[in-house]
Amino acid sequence: MAQINPSILSADFARLAEEAKAVEGADWLHVDVMDNHFVPNLTLGVPIVESLSRATDTPLDCHLMIEDPDRWAPQYVEAGAGSVTFHVEAAAAPVRLAREIRAKGARASMALKPATPIEPYEDLLPELDMLLIMTVEPGFGGQAFLDIMLPKIRRTRELISKHGLELWLQVDGGVSESTIERCAEAGADVFVAGSAVYGAADPADAVRSLRAKADS
Ligand code: DX5
Ligand code: ZN
Repeated sequence: MAQINPSILSADFARLAEEAKAVEGADWLHVDVMDNHFVPNLTLGVPIVESLSRATDTPLDCHLMIEDPDRWAPQYVEAGAGSVTFHVEAAAAPVRLAREIRAKGARASMALKPATPIEPYEDLLPELDMLLIMTVEPGFGGQAFLDIMLPKIRRTRELISKHGLELWLQVDGGVSESTIERCAEAGADVFVAGSAVYGAADPADAVRSLRAKADS
């Protein structure tokens, strides 16, 4: 079954605990960490993740859009994240980092920006619990879905099957009622949705209907 991870980037940051409760029933809560260096936007860091992990039973899926993830990612595991995603473009030693995240007890995940191909990283896939294919340029919510990423999703799914891996394939950016079916058909199984969930009148209902579309 498809997993739906609402992104709190589109939530009200002054009411994060309530906004997390508004999507109970979602598989994970997607937390976008931005440092204004790796991407041109600034959001939140370790102390907020620590508080949020105490405020909700939904596990946290932390997406680190930051420089030097080798230094910071382990701290997000300690802060309570159940899954930590680092960008391969920013990591100095992705294999060592993935192993460290796993050893600390979280799921290890690696993200690719739209212009980063999957092929050079085929041999790293067994080190990961999830691969994130960005379907917008990272940095902001509410951008239009990049259809040109569909072939990359398809090729990645083929690599996962070829190696017989359990790896989850996540998509993030512009995922909505009108794009989620294309992503699912191409082979994604974990879907991040920010504006499509928090921009809806009933966020919990938006999660249910996105899941139904992805599974259809
Ligand atoms: C963008 C973030 C996304 C963002 C998605 O850089 O990584 O998680 O919240 O927002 P939507 O779903 O509105 O494109
Ligand atoms: Zn994200």
